Amino acid sequence: MQSHYSFSGFMGKRVHMGVTGSIAAYKALDLVRSFQESECMVSTVLTEACTKFIQPLSFEALGASPVYTKMFEANSGSDTTFDHLEPGQLADVMVIAPASANTMAKLAFGLADDMLSCQALAFSGPKLIAPAMNPRMWAAPATQRNWDMLGELGYIRIQPDSGHVACGDTGTGRLAPVDAIFIETLKALSPQDLAGKKVLVSLGPTREPWDAVRFWSNPSSGLMGGCMAVAAYLRGADVTVVTGPTELEFPVGIARVSVTTAQQMYEACMDLWPEMDMGCLTAAVADYRPVPYGTDKFKKTSTAGAGLSIEFETNKDILKSLGTCKKSSQKLIGFAAETRHLREQAERKLESKNLDVIAANDISKDGSGFGVPTNQVFVLDAKGRKELWSQLPKTEVAWRLWDHLLLD
Ligand code: CTP
Repeated sequence: MQSHYSFSGFMGKRVHMGVTGSIAAYKALDLVRSFQESECMVSTVLTEACTKFIQPLSFEALGASPVYTKMFEANSGSDTTFDHLEPGQLADVMVIAPASANTMAKLAFGLADDMLSCQALAFSGPKLIAPAMNPRMWAAPATQRNWDMLGELGYIRIQPDSGHVACGDTGTGRLAPVDAIFIETLKALSPQDLAGKKVLVSLGPTREPWDAVRFWSNPSSGLMGGCMAVAAYLRGADVTVVTGPTELEFPVGIARVSVTTAQQMYEACMDLWPEMDMGCLTAAVADYRPVPYGTDKFKKTSTAGAGLSIEFETNKDILKSLGTCKKSSQKLIGFAAETRHLREQAERKLESKNLDVIAANDISKDGSGFGVPTNQVFVLDAKGRKELWSQLPKTEVAWRLWDHLLLD
């Protein structure tokens, strides 16, 4: 699981997973682990075809309980005679991944001739379905009709991927990435308190070129911004990220604008801002850019090499520019990376950049700087609230910052 997906605030939620006969069935084990890392309880129901690919014991060994397989015999971890009606009494969400063409057809038509189809029919909570099959089976008109019907029935559908499949064919039919299924499930479990809101998040470093191969930058990984973007997405927002060069991937539902320099980031953010309800700027923007040496590569044999000095020009402050043209309906969160006078600097930036909330962190402290999964922030807002939060995972800081912005 990617680190900006590792939200842990789902303790006690119960995910019921349906797994069908597919070469991709082993990926359901990774999905179980991802849910457990988010502190969810997991139960599973395996079709008979699934058990030909992967044993129930694998799920039991990971701690899934109950693991249902049979309609008319006792199931592991269950003591009820009404197994076919579970997990309706217990689960918060049901996820069928991978779903075969056969199971999709049963669910579309409401058949109930095995444990998985009975349980799905009896379950009234949110249901997700992620198919995996041969591309010709996926493209078949009957499968496509069933897929549409599942949408009409309210299933949250996760499209299969394209590429090579196990049987040697190429096309659409591969199981969507485990991370994508995981994040859509967390979304189904999340409060949708940012639904209908358009949110802009800037993140990552910028790179300011000097010659053909060298640039001025900083070690920002973009993780804090990634967590802010994914948290807003889980809570129903329509999210756009403007990102400098980072390794981070985002759910397909998040729009991504990739930039390199501070000037490009400025232009992208200024273009998007008038349409946005909220902005959260986490990017570590270079305040200065070197005056370019030129389009060639600087050579150490060059006469310019002795006593080399580089001149800098000033970049625009993106956060301040957004704050200056902020409408009364818009909300803006900024960050402040400091090595001293944290509170004074945070107060100064909150006011001078016209922010609603600022989160300041001491980047010289362990567990609070660039590239680490945790952060300790001092949060203050335009209403005068001031709070020093304990050191928390960045995912948790992000979740709480959106909570804070939604406070009256
Ligand atoms: N920021 C920005 N554009 C810049 C510089 C900073 O949008 N050119 C944003 C950052 O994304 C962050 C906030 O402003 O949300 C504060 O950034 P920080 O680097 O802490 O402070 P600076 O404003 O650059 O001030 P200083 O260098 O004095 O600390």
